[in-house]
Amino acid sequence: MVTETSRRTPLIAGNWKLQQDHLQAIALVQKLAWTLQDAKHDHASVEVAVFPPFTDLRSVQTLISAEKFDLRFGAQDVSEHDSGAHTGEVSAAMLAKLDCAYAIVGHSERRQDHHESDAIVGRKAAAALRAGITPIICVGETAEDLEQHGASAVPVQQLREVLAELPATGEIVVAYEPVWAIGSGQAATAEQAQQVAQALRQTIAEVRSDEAAAATRILYGGSVKSGNIAGFMREPDVDGALVGGASLDAAEFAAIARFKHHVGT
Ligand code: 13P
Repeated sequence: MVTETSRRTPLIAGNWKLQQDHLQAIALVQKLAWTLQDAKHDHASVEVAVFPPFTDLRSVQTLISAEKFDLRFGAQDVSEHDSGAHTGEVSAAMLAKLDCAYAIVGHSERRQDHHESDAIVGRKAAAALRAGITPIICVGETAEDLEQHGASAVPVQQLREVLAELPATGEIVVAYEPVWAIGSGQAATAEQAQQVAQALRQTIAEVRSDEAAAATRILYGGSVKSGNIAGFMREPDVDGALVGGASLDAAEFAAIARFKHHVGT
C-alpha cells in the first residue's frame, strides 16, 4: 500500500461558496491570519488556504501580499477554456495572475447545479495545470450511490474519468466529499473517510504511479468542525480537509487548522 504519510503536508482548505463580498473577505482573512499568528501556527507543518468567490480574489491577493500572511488561496471553479468567446468564464491564466495556488474543480454543487460531467471536470483540471495551478479535484457519492454501490465505487470511477483527461504528471489534490455529508451536520466517520481515501490513492497509483500516489494529498470534506477534525487527521490516507460552513468563522477554522494541538478529540 502506498501510504508514506510523512511526505505530504496537511492542507486545511476553506471553501466559502457563495458567501462574503470582497469587504467581508478582507475582514475574514485578516481575522484568520491574526488568530493563527497569535497561536503561533506553523504554516510549514499545516498549510491553510481559503477559497473566496471570484470577485474577492483581487482583494484577498492584495491583502495577503501586503501583510505577508502565510495563507494561500484559490478559486472555487475555473474555465476549461484558456480564452475566447466564453461569456462569464474565468480562465486559469487569469487566476494564476492573481497568485491563486489552487482551483477547486468538480465540487458536487457544480456537478448538480451546472451539470458538470467528469469529462468537463477533467478538462477544467487540465486547464488549471496548464496555468501552473494545482486543481483540487472533488469526488463523492450521493446517499443513493452509497446504498446502491457501496462507499468507494462512485468516487473511484469519478476520479478515473477525471484523471483520463490529465497529463501523467503535475500536482493534483483530491477531495473526497460525500454529498450526503455536505452541509448536513452528519460527517462521515473517520473510518469511512479512510476507506475511500485509500481506494482513491490506489487509483492514482494505478493510473499515474506509486510515486504520484504517495505524493498526492487526499482531503476529506463534509461537515468538518474543530470537534471532529483530529479523528480524520489520524487516518493514514487523509491529508487534510475541505471545509465549508465552518470556514466562515475565523476562530473555528483556525481551530480546525490547529488540529495537531487538540487534546482528547
Ligand atoms: P460543509 O463543511 O459545510 O459540510 O461543506 C463541505 C464542502 O462542500 C466543502 O467544499
